Amino acid sequence: MDRLQIQGGVALEGEVRISGAKNASLPILAATLLASEPVTVGNVPHLQDVTTMIELLGQMGVTIMVDERMRVEVDATSLNRTVAPYELVKTMRASILVLGPLLSRFGQADVSLPGGCAIGPRPVNIHVAGLQAMGADISIENGYIRARASRLKGVRLVLDTVTVTGTENLMMAAVLADGETMLENAAREPEVVDLANFLNAMGAKVRGAGTDKIIIEGVTKLHSAEYNVLPDRIETGTYLIAGAITGGHVRISNTRPEHLDAVLAKLEQAGATLKIGSDWVELDMRGRRPKSVDVRTAPYPAFPTDMQAQFAALNTVADGVGTIIETIFENRFMHMLEMRRMGAEIRLEGNTAIIKGVSKLQAAPIMATDLRASASLVLAGLVAEGCTVIDRIYHIDRGYESIEEKFASLGAQITRLP
Ligand code: EPU
Repeated sequence: MDRLQIQGGVALEGEVRISGAKNASLPILAATLLASEPVTVGNVPHLQDVTTMIELLGQMGVTIMVDERMRVEVDATSLNRTVAPYELVKTMRASILVLGPLLSRFGQADVSLPGGCAIGPRPVNIHVAGLQAMGADISIENGYIRARASRLKGVRLVLDTVTVTGTENLMMAAVLADGETMLENAAREPEVVDLANFLNAMGAKVRGAGTDKIIIEGVTKLHSAEYNVLPDRIETGTYLIAGAITGGHVRISNTRPEHLDAVLAKLEQAGATLKIGSDWVELDMRGRRPKSVDVRTAPYPAFPTDMQAQFAALNTVADGVGTIIETIFENRFMHMLEMRRMGAEIRLEGNTAIIKGVSKLQAAPIMATDLRASASLVLAGLVAEGCTVIDRIYHIDRGYESIEEKFASLGAQITRLP
């Protein structure tokens, strides 16, 4: 298993180009199942989760071609199997995103029910209930969601909880349904909007994405399209924090600053000087120690749970006491325990972490537990005194493209140990 070795203490300096968003690429690749003609998706990041989604589509008989620039051409007309097997779903929960498209286009889907996960139980009851309301016949058999339907019917759905992949699954199911579907209390994340834009590029009729009410008028067929995935806002935020935590000066290019309002506001509170352009952000923290910030996670446009761990890392070395409240996932504090082993002063009370900044973290052998936790441990390693070795970094390869090359280009002393 690969490990990352980081020699801390370098103030990062330079420019990083942001990759396509993982959490937009996955639903968009799933949505290619809906098209009756080949489609091409560009700006897809080279990540383990993307590879898993491509493998999943391939196992269904879908024809896929990927070029060296990660432009992915998908032809779902060759599909001959409507199953998402346990072996793939257990490695990536987002495999559940094929449920809506398979059912809506082919009238059947057998998708392994995802189990619990390192960050919480993460049920999919809202995905299932929504499809049932649209007329699907769904049962759980031998650990699989067995879904059958003739043509799904448009309905009005009020989602119990704001769910990102739940909104996406139901939106994809609704594009080929008979009549109009209204999704209320829908997720407003930019990745939901990107998926809606892709669906519309294929001839779907989706409006209201980005608000909490999405209206989908069903059509009978989707056609070919070419589409580029939006840049990754969480990768952007992670490199900005890397600049801030090391007292550095970084420019993040090929991004969409407007998707990071809550994160940029927190970085300014932490004392960073920001310059913001149409597709870039520059952060300057030279000569300063960050100030502690309070963070409370909530659905977009509020502060993202996927940036919580990185801000926890920032608080461990900041001036003052900062509180992190996690409201989305039940068990997303594993990184805090590893940071404590590096000398961080963290008190945990339920979903709240109270972090008192220390002047220095110390290097230690540490272990990654989930994707964003791993990113936060890399950040901690960048400022720790000594040489930090992070184990189980396959988690990080699921969501950060070329992480060691990108950090090294900013001057970080980071190497992958095979
Ligand atoms: N929930 C339910 N029932 C459902 C669906 C969700 O109770 O049927 C609950 C969840 O348990 C959770 C809350 O609703 O407490 C919100 O979860 P959501 O469904 O929005 O999460 P998700 O769609 O499974 C996506 C991202 C996550 C990100 C969350 C929250 C993808 C592929 N994944 O997950 O990304 O943390 O939204 O923004 O889009 C990551 O990239 O590291 C990651 C975990």
